[in-house]
Amino acid sequence: MKSLAFLLSVTASLASATAIALGSDASSVFVPEGASISLPRALTSNSHHKQKDNWGNAVEQDRKKVTIRASKHDRDDISDDFLWALKKANHGGLVYLETGKKYVIGKKLDLTFLKDVYVKIDGELKFTNDIEYWQDNNFYYPFQKSITFWVWGGKDIKIYGSGVINGNGQAWWDGFSGAEILDPNNKYYRPILFLTDNATNVEVNGLHLKDSPCWTNFFVRTNNVVFDNVYISAVSTNASSLPKNTDGFDSLNVDGLTVLNTRVNVGDDCFSPKPNTTNILVRNLWCNGTHGVSMGSIGQYPGVMDFISNALLENITLVNGENGARLKAWAGPNVGYGYMRNITYKDIRVENTDNPIVLDQCYFNINASTCAAYPSRVNITDVKFLNVRGSSSGKEGRVVADLTCSPGATCSGIHLENINITSPKGEPQIVCDNIQGDVGVDCIPASEADF
Ligand SMILES: *[C@@H]1O[C@H](CO)[C@@H](O)[C@H](O)[C@H]1NC(C)=O
Ligand SMILES: *[C@@H]1O[C@H](CO)[C@@H](O)[C@H](O)[C@H]1NC(C)=O
Ligand SMILES: *[C@@H]1O[C@H](CO)[C@@H](O)[C@H](O)[C@H]1NC(C)=O
Ligand SMILES: *[C@@H]1O[C@H](CO)[C@@H](O)[C@H](O)[C@H]1NC(C)=O
Ligand SMILES: *[C@@H]1O[C@H](CO)[C@@H](O)[C@H](O)[C@H]1NC(C)=O
Ligand SMILES: *[C@@H]1O[C@H](CO)[C@@H](O)[C@H](O)[C@H]1NC(C)=O
Ligand SMILES: *[C@@H]1O[C@H](CO)[C@@H](O)[C@H](O)[C@H]1NC(C)=O
Ligand SMILES: *[C@@H]1O[C@H](CO)[C@@H](O)[C@H](O)[C@H]1NC(C)=O
Ligand SMILES: *[C@@H]1O[C@H](CO)[C@@H](O)[C@H](O)[C@H]1NC(C)=O
Repeated sequence: MKSLAFLLSVTASLASATAIALGSDASSVFVPEGASISLPRALTSNSHHKQKDNWGNAVEQDRKKVTIRASKHDRDDISDDFLWALKKANHGGLVYLETGKKYVIGKKLDLTFLKDVYVKIDGELKFTNDIEYWQDNNFYYPFQKSITFWVWGGKDIKIYGSGVINGNGQAWWDGFSGAEILDPNNKYYRPILFLTDNATNVEVNGLHLKDSPCWTNFFVRTNNVVFDNVYISAVSTNASSLPKNTDGFDSLNVDGLTVLNTRVNVGDDCFSPKPNTTNILVRNLWCNGTHGVSMGSIGQYPGVMDFISNALLENITLVNGENGARLKAWAGPNVGYGYMRNITYKDIRVENTDNPIVLDQCYFNINASTCAAYPSRVNITDVKFLNVRGSSSGKEGRVVADLTCSPGATCSGIHLENINITSPKGEPQIVCDNIQGDVGVDCIPASEADF
């Protein structure tokens, strides 16, 4: 009640550049140049009718709104202002980045303190492409030697709007010249565009995530991430430097990963949860020119047990890509083990796709003899491919589905139904090896296939 009276007694919009006391703590006195804080709509007495969001928090109209100055040019760094705004808006407020304005981030940001905050981006949030700075200043994750500009963590974080988060990736792609992230000698690390760590309840809605230097999204130790109505693109303007490793979605130790109504136009995996991801839902996803909607890779690190379970991937369209529906697990002398269980691909449409359906247990970059000598120890069970239609590119000859399981692991409960994929090379073939039980369709061993 006291705070309600206080809110009502303050003017609706407080302007910039002055020292204004808001609330009781002294740290809240400073307001950066060009910033402002406006209070939410008037509260009514029948507060039990007040709307709540999915997490039981206030909706946009009931939130204090914090705005900051925009950048004047691509090196005009507003990261301090953005951090200030997030601290101000934390615990029930909203940071607003306005339409038609650009906000440049030139310094790494630790945003792991969040609790019930909205960030509405109608403008453009853009990272500098100062490669030297970012390679010295970033957050590092040992998993596939990942780095990022910023880390988002905490609880109840909603980031939405009609705007753009721009990774400014062109300079990074131009500079990397073949230094793939899975290459053990690679030292040219490129930042991930959006990363959560130790977060619970993260929602991203409506945004365009553009030109990430490396993976677009990586969720670590996170529960309940929902992406809805998002567009992800990574498109190079330089024909000799492709936007490599710009995966749409990656995860590590995540429970609850949902992607809805999203379009992805990147040069690597469209969607590829990594170790220890459970309860996955993907619905209405469109992928162009990608490496497919994958489970994994998992089983990479020696002595480490990885798993992926309970995934439903439904109504997915994949065009012009290397893979359609894929499962990938590592093999070789020095890798890990684990399992994938209860994965369903349903209503999948492929067009001009090299490998429409592929189960690959000889990942990554090893030859057949090494794979045979050190087969994958990732068990794969209860995997369904239901209603998959369209066409392959013909790059794998007549083979439209290649399910080659490891002789060193359990592979059972693999079921295909309603598969209608054509190949420009002739009558389509489905390959199956080392699978226990019936797969539901006619299939032949790899040794007899016309690849
Ligand atoms: C995760 O975040 C919670 C608060 O949200 C914090 O209490 C905890 O220490 C964090 N855990 C780690 C491992 O950082
Ligand atoms: C295009 O990429 C190549 C290879 O990475 C690089 O050498 C060249 O400088 C780039 N061109 C421009 C105009 O940046
Ligand atoms: C399937 O996804 C496409 C987008 O790729 C969408 O246009 C279509 O409405 C979805 N179908 C259903 C039944 O939701
Ligand atoms: C799909 O990607 C190709 C390049 O990989 C591009 O030329 C084409 O415009 C994209 N299609 C759409 C509809 O975005
Ligand atoms: C996955 O979970 C298992 C079991 O909790 C753990 O031992 C392993 O380290 C995790 N894998 C990764 C890559 O974190
Ligand atoms: C399989 O995964 C789905 C989610 O895709 C879940 O609803 C179902 O309960 C899981 N089944 C089992 C046996 O865990
Ligand atoms: C894989 O399956 C075998 C045979 O059922 C089992 O002994 C082993 O524990 C399983 N591995 C994992 C990681 O679940
Ligand atoms: C396969 O790779 C291993 C390890 O790199 C190498 O020693 C071996 O000669 C290769 N075998 C063939 C047939 O290429
Ligand atoms: C398979 O798809 C083709 C078009 O790609 C269609 O003409 C044909 O009727 C389909 N067959 C079945 C059995 O659905």
